[in-house]
Amino acid sequence: MAKEAVKYVCSECGTATPRWLGKCPGCDAFGTLVEERRAVGAGSREAAPAAAGVSMPLGEVSATEAERISTGVPELDRVLGGGLVPASLVLVGGEPGVGKSTLLLSALGAIARGGRRALLVTGEESAPQVSLRAARLGGAEGVRILAETELATVCATLEQERPDVCVIDSVQTLHASELGSAPGSVAQVREAAGRLLRVAKEAGVATILVGHVTKDGAVAGPRVLEHLVDCVLQFEGDRYHAHRVLRAAKNRFGSTNELGVFEMTGTGLVGVPDPSELFGATHPGEIGAAVGCVLEGTRPLLLEVQALVAPTDLAMPRRVGTGVDPRRLAMLVAVLGRHAGVSLASADVFVNVAGGVRIEEPGGDLAVALAIASAARGVPVLEGSASFGEIGLTGRLRPAAQAERRLDECGKLGIGTVVVPAGTPPRQRPRVASVETLRAALAAGLDTRAREPEVAAA
Ligand SMILES: Nc1ncnc2c1ncn2[C@@H]1O[C@H](COP(=O)(O)OP(=O)(O)OP(=O)(O)O)[C@@H](O)[C@H]1O
Ligand SMILES: [Mg+2]
Repeated sequence: MAKEAVKYVCSECGTATPRWLGKCPGCDAFGTLVEERRAVGAGSREAAPAAAGVSMPLGEVSATEAERISTGVPELDRVLGGGLVPASLVLVGGEPGVGKSTLLLSALGAIARGGRRALLVTGEESAPQVSLRAARLGGAEGVRILAETELATVCATLEQERPDVCVIDSVQTLHASELGSAPGSVAQVREAAGRLLRVAKEAGVATILVGHVTKDGAVAGPRVLEHLVDCVLQFEGDRYHAHRVLRAAKNRFGSTNELGVFEMTGTGLVGVPDPSELFGATHPGEIGAAVGCVLEGTRPLLLEVQALVAPTDLAMPRRVGTGVDPRRLAMLVAVLGRHAGVSLASADVFVNVAGGVRIEEPGGDLAVALAIASAARGVPVLEGSASFGEIGLTGRLRPAAQAERRLDECGKLGIGTVVVPAGTPPRQRPRVASVETLRAALAAGLDTRAREPEVAAA
């Protein structure tokens, strides 16, 4: 007689344990273990003897680079590595309301207009709701729609209709009734992804799965989902900002360094082909604003960093950063005070990165420090200048990776002077101001003509 095996699986990381525990031993999350039952016994599939497969030399495998399917959204194509690969499985994650459904519906519309079959499986919204969005975006009349959450029905439809591209919105709503657990649970999501992967490869359907994300921004559900799919795209950006950033966290068919930037408008997401022009724009002479050149993957991007330094009576002054790591910000404030003579002990410091982009790379340190120093001293940064470089705890600057590419980007956008750590190769355009310490960087990067410089004298 078949007996049931019970295990407990973490819904965050997929760790399985034989007993229920309050805290997951894999990711230390609390209350995430859920029961998973599976029948094992004499008649189960594992027990059946398998026929041997036949291997062959790799040289004899015939493979032609399949023509990629353009999604009609150039920024999305770029992040995918030049378009959607037929029969691949792509996972798109993003916070609620960031615009996943909007982006994918526009892509499906363009694919359908190009004469390919495009199918949208919606489990979250009803067909009339999607049609309202389609009317707003325009041009999506040729997209076929299926409002369904039963996994078996979805797979059967894909096998029968064999669309070229299918979007599942979202994978967490799919439900395999034989599993018994709730939709969105680890077992369900894993089963759905596994079955859809098989159908995608067998029926030649390029499948895009929409996935929810956890509080930390990782795709919800087990990590196995990320291993299973060919490509994981993350759609980021503040819901309340107009700009959204799409990046690849994993791509089996292209580089993960590409970045797509979009602007949310009433008629859908519009690609921003040159984000540096948008995010790096400053007003000359403005106090507390500095332009930094940071790497997003290997793509250099100019960003405006703004800072506000305000006197405070609080015993513990506030250091608030939007788009910068708070710990990094606290460190920069301390280094500025200790090594560059910018005392911020009785001031609140607010830092914001324009456009809702996040600086996740130490090369952005110098721009943040310059913006804070500019705000604290009341002098603007040098007109038409940018900076990059990592700041160490000793106040010394460390060279940043890929300096050449950053300088190229600065040159492309007409930046005159770039303040960089010593050791960066000099060049004519843009002019490079090499500095060794943060103190010297402030002297080189701030436009102190308006006021007597405290730093240059020191
Ligand atoms: N009429 C409109 N004009 C401008 N922007 C709009 C309009 N309607 C919706 N939006 C934008 O679209 C966003 C919602 O997009 P969408 O439904 O594609 O997000 P989603 O990522 O699919 O969210 P969810 O995870 O909830 O499904 C809203 O946050 C809003 O910014
Ligand atoms: Mg949606």
